[in-house]
Amino acid sequence: MNNSKWYQQAIFYELYVRAFKDTTGDGNGDLRGVIEKLDYVKDLGVDCVWLLPIYPSPLKDDGYDIQDFYGIHEDFGTMDDLKELIDEVHKRDMRLILDLVVNHVSDQHEWFQIGRKDPTHPYHDYFVWSDSKEKYNETRIIFLDVEESNWTWDEVAQKYYWHRFFASQPDLNYDNPAVEQELLDIMDFWLKLGIDGFRVDAVPYLIEREGTNCENLPETHDILKRMRAFTDANYPDCVMMCEANQWPEDVREYFGDDDEFHMGFNFPLMPRIYQAVAQKDATPIYEIMKTLPEIPENCQWTNFLRNHDELTLEMVSEEVRQFMWNFYAAEPRMRSNLGIRRRMAPLLENDVRKITLINSILFTMPGTPIVYYGDEIGMGDNIWLHDRNGVRTPMQWNDAKNAGFSNAEKTYSPVIDDEGFGFKKVNVDSVMSDKDSIYYQIQKMITLRKSSAILQNGGIEWLDGEDQSILAYKRVFDGNEILIVHNLSDETKEFVVEGEKKDVYSNSTFDNQLAAYQFVWLQ
Ligand code: NOJ
Repeated sequence: MNNSKWYQQAIFYELYVRAFKDTTGDGNGDLRGVIEKLDYVKDLGVDCVWLLPIYPSPLKDDGYDIQDFYGIHEDFGTMDDLKELIDEVHKRDMRLILDLVVNHVSDQHEWFQIGRKDPTHPYHDYFVWSDSKEKYNETRIIFLDVEESNWTWDEVAQKYYWHRFFASQPDLNYDNPAVEQELLDIMDFWLKLGIDGFRVDAVPYLIEREGTNCENLPETHDILKRMRAFTDANYPDCVMMCEANQWPEDVREYFGDDDEFHMGFNFPLMPRIYQAVAQKDATPIYEIMKTLPEIPENCQWTNFLRNHDELTLEMVSEEVRQFMWNFYAAEPRMRSNLGIRRRMAPLLENDVRKITLINSILFTMPGTPIVYYGDEIGMGDNIWLHDRNGVRTPMQWNDAKNAGFSNAEKTYSPVIDDEGFGFKKVNVDSVMSDKDSIYYQIQKMITLRKSSAILQNGGIEWLDGEDQSILAYKRVFDGNEILIVHNLSDETKEFVVEGEKKDVYSNSTFDNQLAAYQFVWLQ
């Protein structure tokens, strides 16, 4: 492994504009709010900011239902605000990527509005229509809690239309070359403005074929290769990150021969980290990481602990899923589709030892880490809010009105105000005044990772031994190595290393003992 590309060494930050900082007093965060808080993001050690969708949208799926690909949602600001944000990000030597939703649009998009009315209009063929619901019936339903079918009857068109997500998000028809051309035009528009790339949403589902599960089809890969050829030819520095919630061997295909995506999420690792902590057993992490296929030199896995969606349990066995639900989501309301709608800190009972432990796994693994906004301060959630909104509440800056997020009387979502995680207690000011806070520990891990060629670039050697509660590995680069050891249990453990070793994380000599949930980075 010889990582020399910026995204292979970077720290990403996933940021929900609506939740971050409201500068207009309308109760919604906005792009100017992001500009205002960029120094905060930079100070954490972030190199690249990924914005959740910012386009005009009825927000039935929080912007993943796009109404107009060429604008900014009026609640979030203007095109000039975005241009300024791009400049301010670049001034701070960071980068900015946008979410690109390629698989579907909002039913309010004019393509659908016009296309459904007139079967002879070119926009009609932008969607996937059928007279019967029986087509493609080997395809799973993703939003299981809400949708009963991937087909919905359209009264206007007098036909069924295909959708892999909410019924309000008709899928685009990528068998129509005009749709692919639209996509390239959209990419061109935003890249021309100066953004640095895209996180591409829901890529496995672009093409449908009878007799298949309509995921990861060769024709989908062909489209993605043409998309990449377009950016390579016109915007060679553009980075493309793939969202495919699939098994590693299927995600592997989305790197292609370094001719599809540069980056791809390592989805199955994430639930296994929580499983390992719950079971005090590192086996699931070793197992999944050992099956990670090799990827082309310029490509990179992307690791994360939580994001704006439910903690997905799609990539675990039925048995593990039941275990995870029982352990982490005993209250039924915590469950959502095949996952858990909770944030990192509440999942781990706000135990700083466990929170820093799993962050140590994140920041010492090969693969680019992504931090989800608010997790760096240990924000809580609100499982009673609709859908996944409970993990998308306003950022908690201080203990003033609305957590310092907004002056409005009513914010787009209630601020977390419960006993354990309420904004009076959990906020940026408070974590910054406590030198042992999660924030400083994460900041320290980021600093150490970024100053270590081994952690950024190194290969990995697994050191699984007798004691299943120990997760240990060596990162190796250029003849140098760092030994990383995690104690996933609540008991003191012995881990014997030869000679005197310094734990660069705690800056002390390692005495071969690990306290409950302790971890060491031994040089
Ligand atoms: C994946 C996104 O992360 C999720 O939030 C969204 O609902 C679906 N794709 C549909 O766009």
